[in-house]
Amino acid sequence: MMDFLGVDEDELGNTMSPAGGSTVIDAFGPGEMTEQTRAMVNTYIQAAMDHTAMLYDRRRQQPRDDLLTHLVQAQNEEGRLTEGELITLFSSIFGSGTSTASIIASGIAELARHPEQAELLRGNPDAWKKGACEESLRYRPAINAIGQKAANHTHAFDMEFAAGTHITVVVGAVNRDPRHWGEDAEHFDIRRDSQNASLSFGIGPHVCLGHAMSRATIEEALAVFVERCDEIELLEEPRWIPFVQENKVENLRLGVLVKERAAGGISPIAGDRA
Ligand code: HEM
Repeated sequence: MMDFLGVDEDELGNTMSPAGGSTVIDAFGPGEMTEQTRAMVNTYIQAAMDHTAMLYDRRRQQPRDDLLTHLVQAQNEEGRLTEGELITLFSSIFGSGTSTASIIASGIAELARHPEQAELLRGNPDAWKKGACEESLRYRPAINAIGQKAANHTHAFDMEFAAGTHITVVVGAVNRDPRHWGEDAEHFDIRRDSQNASLSFGIGPHVCLGHAMSRATIEEALAVFVERCDEIELLEEPRWIPFVQENKVENLRLGVLVKERAAGGISPIAGDRA
Protein backbone atom coordinates (compact mmCIF):
# COMPACT_ATOMS: atom_id res chain seq x y z
CA MET A 1 0.00 0.00 0.00
CA MET A 2 3.03 2.25 0.53
CA ASP A 3 3.98 1.73 -3.12
CA PHE A 4 0.39 2.34 -4.14
CA LEU A 5 0.26 5.66 -2.27
CA GLY A 6 3.79 6.65 -3.20
CA VAL A 7 5.24 6.73 0.33
CA ASP A 8 8.96 5.95 0.48
CA GLU A 9 10.25 3.67 3.19
CA ASP A 10 12.18 6.49 4.86
CA GLU A 11 8.99 8.59 4.91
CA LEU A 12 7.09 6.10 7.02
CA GLY A 13 8.33 7.44 10.33
CA ASN A 14 7.93 5.89 13.78
CA THR A 15 4.26 6.78 13.99
CA MET A 16 3.29 4.18 11.39
CA SER A 17 5.52 1.37 12.62
CA PRO A 18 4.06 -1.98 13.72
CA ALA A 19 5.05 -1.09 17.30
CA GLY A 20 2.77 1.94 17.20
CA GLY A 21 0.00 -0.12 15.61
CA SER A 22 0.15 -2.66 18.41
CA THR A 23 -0.66 0.10 20.90
CA VAL A 24 -3.92 0.63 19.03
CA ILE A 25 -4.56 -3.12 18.88
CA ASP A 26 -4.09 -3.31 22.66
CA ALA A 27 -6.69 -0.62 23.11
CA PHE A 28 -9.33 -2.16 20.88
CA GLY A 29 -8.63 -5.76 21.84
CA PRO A 30 -10.50 -7.82 24.41
CA GLY A 31 -8.68 -6.21 27.36
CA GLU A 32 -10.14 -3.50 29.55
CA MET A 33 -9.97 0.08 28.24
CA THR A 34 -8.30 2.24 30.88
CA GLU A 35 -7.87 6.02 30.90
CA GLN A 36 -4.15 5.48 30.49
CA THR A 37 -4.60 3.32 27.36
CA ARG A 38 -7.11 5.79 25.94
CA ALA A 39 -4.64 8.64 26.38
CA MET A 40 -1.82 6.60 24.85
CA VAL A 41 -3.89 5.68 21.80
CA ASN A 42 -5.13 9.23 21.27
CA THR A 43 -1.54 10.45 21.39
CA TYR A 44 -0.51 7.77 18.89
CA ILE A 45 -3.36 8.57 16.48
CA GLN A 46 -2.68 12.30 16.70
CA ALA A 47 1.01 11.69 15.92
CA ALA A 48 0.08 9.52 12.91
CA MET A 49 -2.30 12.25 11.65
CA ASP A 50 0.37 14.93 12.08
CA HIS A 51 2.84 12.78 10.20
CA THR A 52 0.33 12.29 7.34
CA ALA A 53 -0.28 16.07 7.18
CA MET A 54 3.49 16.53 6.94
CA LEU A 55 3.64 14.08 3.98
CA TYR A 56 0.90 16.00 2.17
CA ASP A 57 2.81 19.24 2.80
CA ARG A 58 5.91 17.69 1.33
CA ARG A 59 4.01 16.70 -1.87
CA ARG A 60 2.52 20.20 -2.11
CA GLN A 61 6.03 21.62 -2.16
CA GLN A 62 7.61 18.89 -4.27
CA PRO A 63 4.91 17.26 -6.42
CA ARG A 64 5.64 13.77 -7.76
CA ASP A 65 3.76 11.38 -10.01
CA ASP A 66 2.16 9.49 -7.12
CA LEU A 67 -1.25 9.06 -5.51
CA LEU A 68 -0.41 11.34 -2.56
CA THR A 69 0.32 14.20 -4.97
CA HIS A 70 -2.87 13.51 -6.96
CA LEU A 71 -4.92 13.62 -3.75
CA VAL A 72 -3.35 16.94 -2.76
CA GLN A 73 -4.07 18.32 -6.22
CA ALA A 74 -7.71 17.22 -5.98
CA GLN A 75 -7.90 19.21 -2.75
CA ASN A 76 -6.17 22.30 -4.08
CA GLU A 77 -7.40 22.56 -7.65
CA GLU A 78 -10.89 21.19 -7.32
CA GLY A 79 -11.47 22.04 -3.67
CA ARG A 80 -13.11 18.69 -3.24
CA LEU A 81 -11.38 17.33 -0.14
CA THR A 82 -10.81 18.95 3.24
CA GLU A 83 -7.52 18.39 5.06
CA GLY A 84 -9.33 16.09 7.51
CA GLU A 85 -10.78 14.05 4.64
CA LEU A 86 -7.35 13.78 3.03
CA ILE A 87 -5.92 12.38 6.24
CA THR A 88 -8.76 9.89 6.74
CA LEU A 89 -8.47 8.78 3.12
CA PHE A 90 -4.77 8.16 3.61
CA SER A 91 -5.31 5.98 6.68
CA SER A 92 -8.17 4.04 5.01
CA ILE A 93 -5.96 3.21 2.04
CA PHE A 94 -2.84 2.61 4.14
CA GLY A 95 -4.59 0.16 6.45
CA SER A 96 -6.61 -1.65 3.82
CA GLY A 97 -3.89 -3.91 2.41
CA THR A 98 -4.10 -6.11 5.49
CA SER A 99 -7.86 -6.59 4.91
CA THR A 100 -7.34 -8.06 1.46
CA ALA A 101 -4.55 -10.31 2.76
CA SER A 102 -6.73 -11.52 5.61
CA ILE A 103 -9.68 -12.40 3.36
CA ILE A 104 -7.33 -14.43 1.14
CA ALA A 105 -5.89 -16.25 4.18
CA SER A 106 -9.28 -17.02 5.72
CA GLY A 107 -10.66 -18.08 2.30
CA ILE A 108 -7.77 -20.55 1.89
CA ALA A 109 -8.41 -21.89 5.41
CA GLU A 110 -12.07 -22.54 4.53
CA LEU A 111 -11.14 -24.16 1.21
CA ALA A 112 -8.80 -26.43 3.17
CA ARG A 113 -11.74 -27.40 5.41
CA HIS A 114 -13.96 -28.00 2.34
CA PRO A 115 -11.85 -29.91 -0.21
CA GLU A 116 -14.89 -30.57 -2.42
CA GLN A 117 -15.27 -26.79 -2.88
CA ALA A 118 -11.54 -26.38 -3.54
CA GLU A 119 -11.95 -29.06 -6.21
CA LEU A 120 -14.81 -27.14 -7.85
CA LEU A 121 -12.67 -24.01 -7.99
CA ARG A 122 -9.64 -25.92 -9.25
CA GLY A 123 -11.68 -27.60 -12.00
CA ASN A 124 -13.28 -24.42 -13.33
CA PRO A 125 -11.76 -21.24 -11.86
CA ASP A 126 -13.65 -18.92 -14.22
CA ALA A 127 -16.96 -20.33 -13.03
CA TRP A 128 -16.18 -20.39 -9.29
CA LYS A 129 -13.63 -17.73 -8.40
CA LYS A 130 -16.27 -15.05 -7.96
CA GLY A 131 -18.26 -17.31 -5.65
CA ALA A 132 -15.10 -18.20 -3.68
CA CYS A 133 -14.23 -14.52 -3.27
CA GLU A 134 -17.74 -13.37 -2.28
CA GLU A 135 -18.17 -16.24 0.17
CA SER A 136 -14.77 -15.57 1.79
CA LEU A 137 -15.78 -11.93 2.19
CA ARG A 138 -19.17 -12.85 3.65
CA TYR A 139 -17.95 -15.57 5.97
CA ARG A 140 -15.09 -13.74 7.67
CA PRO A 141 -15.34 -10.01 6.90
CA ALA A 142 -11.99 -8.47 7.73
CA ILE A 143 -13.81 -5.43 9.09
CA ASN A 144 -16.35 -6.72 11.52
CA ALA A 145 -18.05 -3.46 12.46
CA ILE A 146 -18.58 -0.20 10.58
CA GLY A 147 -19.06 3.03 12.50
CA GLN A 148 -21.67 5.42 11.06
CA LYS A 149 -23.30 8.62 12.18
CA ALA A 150 -26.93 9.49 11.34
CA ALA A 151 -26.72 12.67 9.24
CA ASN A 152 -30.46 13.33 9.69
CA HIS A 153 -33.20 12.03 11.94
CA THR A 154 -33.75 8.53 10.55
CA HIS A 155 -36.35 5.81 10.98
CA ALA A 156 -35.00 2.39 10.06
CA PHE A 157 -35.53 -1.22 11.18
CA ASP A 158 -38.38 -0.10 13.48
CA MET A 159 -36.00 2.21 15.34
CA GLU A 160 -35.58 5.97 15.57
CA PHE A 161 -32.10 7.49 15.24
CA ALA A 162 -31.78 11.16 16.16
CA ALA A 163 -29.48 13.26 13.96
CA GLY A 164 -25.91 12.84 15.17
CA THR A 165 -26.44 9.39 16.73
CA HIS A 166 -23.42 7.11 16.42
CA ILE A 167 -24.36 3.73 14.98
CA THR A 168 -22.25 0.59 14.76
CA VAL A 169 -23.24 -1.88 12.06
CA VAL A 170 -21.98 -5.32 13.07
CA VAL A 171 -21.14 -6.68 9.65
CA GLY A 172 -20.17 -10.11 10.98
CA ALA A 173 -23.73 -10.62 12.30
CA VAL A 174 -25.46 -9.21 9.20
CA ASN A 175 -23.37 -11.44 6.93
CA ARG A 176 -24.64 -14.54 8.72
CA ASP A 177 -28.24 -13.53 9.28
CA PRO A 178 -30.35 -16.63 8.44
CA ARG A 179 -33.29 -14.38 7.45
CA HIS A 180 -31.21 -13.22 4.51
CA TRP A 181 -28.78 -16.06 3.86
CA GLY A 182 -30.95 -19.03 4.80
CA GLU A 183 -30.69 -21.65 7.53
CA ASP A 184 -27.17 -22.66 6.45
CA ALA A 185 -25.78 -19.12 6.91
CA GLU A 186 -23.14 -20.48 9.32
CA HIS A 187 -21.84 -22.77 6.60
CA PHE A 188 -19.10 -21.76 4.11
CA ASP A 189 -20.30 -22.45 0.58
CA ILE A 190 -18.84 -20.94 -2.59
CA ARG A 191 -21.95 -22.11 -4.50
CA ARG A 192 -24.12 -19.38 -2.96
CA ASP A 193 -25.52 -16.76 -5.33
CA SER A 194 -22.45 -14.54 -5.81
CA GLN A 195 -24.62 -11.60 -6.94
CA ASN A 196 -26.02 -11.49 -3.41
CA ALA A 197 -23.21 -9.33 -2.05
CA SER A 198 -22.48 -9.20 1.67
CA LEU A 199 -21.96 -6.01 3.67
CA SER A 200 -18.19 -6.54 3.90
CA PHE A 201 -17.33 -3.44 1.85
CA GLY A 202 -20.08 -1.32 3.39
CA ILE A 203 -22.90 0.19 1.36
CA GLY A 204 -24.06 3.57 0.07
CA PRO A 205 -22.04 6.69 -0.83
CA HIS A 206 -19.10 5.62 1.39
CA VAL A 207 -18.87 2.08 0.08
CA CYS A 208 -15.23 0.88 0.05
CA LEU A 209 -13.31 2.70 -2.65
CA GLY A 210 -10.98 -0.26 -3.16
CA HIS A 211 -13.62 -2.97 -3.49
CA ALA A 212 -13.07 -3.69 -7.20
CA MET A 213 -9.31 -3.94 -6.78
CA SER A 214 -9.66 -6.13 -3.68
CA ARG A 215 -12.20 -8.41 -5.32
CA ALA A 216 -9.94 -8.89 -8.36
CA THR A 217 -6.98 -9.67 -6.07
CA ILE A 218 -8.92 -12.14 -3.90
CA GLU A 219 -10.46 -13.96 -6.89
CA GLU A 220 -7.09 -14.45 -8.57
CA ALA A 221 -5.24 -15.36 -5.37
CA LEU A 222 -7.73 -18.08 -4.37
CA ALA A 223 -7.96 -19.52 -7.90
CA VAL A 224 -4.19 -19.62 -8.38
CA PHE A 225 -3.57 -21.08 -4.92
CA VAL A 226 -5.87 -24.09 -5.44
CA GLU A 227 -4.63 -24.48 -9.00
CA ARG A 228 -1.05 -24.81 -7.75
CA CYS A 229 -1.74 -26.87 -4.65
CA ASP A 230 -3.55 -30.13 -5.30
CA GLU A 231 -4.29 -30.79 -1.64
CA ILE A 232 -4.44 -28.27 1.18
CA GLU A 233 -4.49 -29.20 4.84
CA LEU A 234 -4.92 -26.93 7.86
CA LEU A 235 -2.09 -27.83 10.22
CA GLU A 236 -3.69 -25.88 13.06
CA GLU A 237 -6.61 -23.51 13.59
CA PRO A 238 -5.77 -20.07 12.17
CA ARG A 239 -4.79 -17.52 14.82
CA TRP A 240 -6.79 -14.28 14.78
CA ILE A 241 -5.59 -10.85 15.84
CA PRO A 242 -7.54 -10.12 19.03
CA PHE A 243 -9.23 -7.02 17.78
CA VAL A 244 -12.86 -6.10 18.30
CA GLN A 245 -13.68 -4.08 15.22
CA GLU A 246 -11.42 -5.91 12.84
CA ASN A 247 -11.18 -9.62 12.31
CA LYS A 248 -7.91 -10.52 10.68
CA VAL A 249 -5.82 -13.67 10.40
CA GLU A 250 -2.52 -13.38 12.23
CA ASN A 251 -1.13 -16.78 11.38
CA LEU A 252 -2.10 -19.58 9.02
CA ARG A 253 -0.17 -22.87 8.93
CA LEU A 254 -0.90 -25.14 5.99
CA GLY A 255 0.42 -28.36 4.55
CA VAL A 256 0.07 -28.59 0.79
CA LEU A 257 0.63 -31.35 -1.73
CA VAL A 258 1.81 -30.36 -5.21
CA LYS A 259 1.58 -33.13 -7.78
CA GLU A 260 3.99 -33.33 -10.65
CA ARG A 261 2.84 -31.30 -13.64
CA ALA A 262 3.14 -32.36 -17.26
CA ALA A 263 5.87 -30.51 -19.17
CA GLY A 264 4.62 -27.12 -20.27
CA GLY A 265 2.03 -27.02 -17.47
CA ILE A 266 2.01 -24.35 -14.77
CA SER A 267 5.15 -24.27 -12.65
CA PRO A 268 4.56 -25.84 -9.23
CA ILE A 269 5.51 -24.14 -5.97
CA ALA A 270 9.05 -25.25 -5.12
CA GLY A 271 9.14 -28.35 -2.90
CA ASP A 272 10.80 -26.71 0.10
CA ARG A 273 8.38 -23.78 0.16
CA ALA A 274 5.41 -26.14 -0.19
C1 HEM B 1 -10.88 -7.02 1.51
C2 HEM B 1 -10.40 -5.79 1.58
C3 HEM B 1 -11.18 -4.60 2.07
C4 HEM B 1 -12.27 -4.55 2.92
C5 HEM B 1 -12.97 -5.71 3.63
C6 HEM B 1 -12.65 -3.16 3.03
C7 HEM B 1 -13.72 -2.69 3.76
C8 HEM B 1 -14.11 -1.39 3.85
C9 HEM B 1 -15.24 -0.90 4.64
C10 HEM B 1 -16.13 -1.77 5.49
C11 HEM B 1 -15.31 0.44 4.46
C12 HEM B 1 -16.31 1.39 5.13
C13 HEM B 1 -17.57 1.50 4.32
C14 HEM B 1 -18.63 2.33 5.00
O1 HEM B 1 -18.31 3.23 5.79
O2 HEM B 1 -19.82 2.08 4.72
C15 HEM B 1 -14.23 0.82 3.57
C16 HEM B 1 -13.98 2.10 3.17
C17 HEM B 1 -12.92 2.45 2.39
N1 HEM B 1 -12.01 1.61 1.79
FE1 HEM B 1 -11.94 -0.39 1.95
N2 HEM B 1 -11.79 -2.40 2.27
C18 HEM B 1 -10.88 -3.24 1.67
C19 HEM B 1 -9.87 -2.89 0.79
C20 HEM B 1 -9.59 -1.60 0.40
C21 HEM B 1 -8.53 -1.22 -0.49
C22 HEM B 1 -7.56 -2.19 -1.18
C23 HEM B 1 -8.56 0.14 -0.59
C24 HEM B 1 -7.69 1.09 -1.37
C25 HEM B 1 -7.01 0.80 -2.44
C26 HEM B 1 -9.66 0.61 0.23
C27 HEM B 1 -10.01 1.93 0.39
C28 HEM B 1 -11.09 2.38 1.11
C29 HEM B 1 -11.45 3.78 1.27
C30 HEM B 1 -10.69 4.96 0.68
C31 HEM B 1 -12.59 3.83 2.05
C32 HEM B 1 -13.36 5.08 2.48
C33 HEM B 1 -14.47 5.36 1.51
C34 HEM B 1 -15.31 6.56 1.94
O3 HEM B 1 -15.43 6.82 3.15
O4 HEM B 1 -15.89 7.21 1.06
N3 HEM B 1 -10.26 -0.47 0.83
N4 HEM B 1 -13.52 -0.32 3.21
